[in-house]
Amino acid sequence: MEEYERLKAEILSCTKCPLHRTRKNPVPGEGPLDAEVMIVGEAPGRREDELGRPFVGMAGKLLDALLARAGLRREEVYITNVVKCRPPGNRDPRPEEVEACLPYLVRQIALIRPRVIIALGRIAGSTLFRLAGLKWRGVKAEHGLAYNAVVAGVPVTLTATYHPASALYNPQLRRVLEEDFQGPIKEAVSSRGARARRSLDDFL
Ligand code: URA
Ligand code: SF4
Repeated sequence: MEEYERLKAEILSCTKCPLHRTRKNPVPGEGPLDAEVMIVGEAPGRREDELGRPFVGMAGKLLDALLARAGLRREEVYITNVVKCRPPGNRDPRPEEVEACLPYLVRQIALIRPRVIIALGRIAGSTLFRLAGLKWRGVKAEHGLAYNAVVAGVPVTLTATYHPASALYNPQLRRVLEEDFQGPIKEAVSSRGARARRSLDDFL
């Protein structure tokens, strides 16, 4: 808890990349520190920048509905982004901005120790696959697949899908996202329970 508060305070006063000049509020992330599932997006948008909270705009509304398909409530997952400050005009974060900000995400993962990480979109997917030492073949190839991996020293099930923002005006992509959350993501989320039960049985 103390370490988490320290990390949050560092993010709130961070000036390690040029995005600190144009942000209104850094968006560290939020959710229970013992969350089993971590959602990683790209970077804050306009609404997130205004409120200092992740996924509170249109994409966030869609994310809430997608989480429900996997049997998850927003309150029980930890939600953050690869980059903690809004890129002006919602442009993609630059590689040097991702690199400057990445240590924060690594520390969040090491502290929270989620069992499942869900990466939303290309930036989150490629970054987390790189941290896991996995080859990234693009969202189209990777979405809906789940990997056993080690990220920031934590054994996780890592899965990637499209970014909800990309599906807001694209019904076809929205359908794919819905299928991913209802199928493979739900499976990854519930199989951690199954795995825990099995090892407990083994122990007893
Ligand atoms: N898109 C993201 O990637 N993250 C947010 O927090 C909001 C929109
Ligand atoms: Fe610091 Fe990350 Fe914000 Fe850049 S984006 S200023 S590295 S918190």
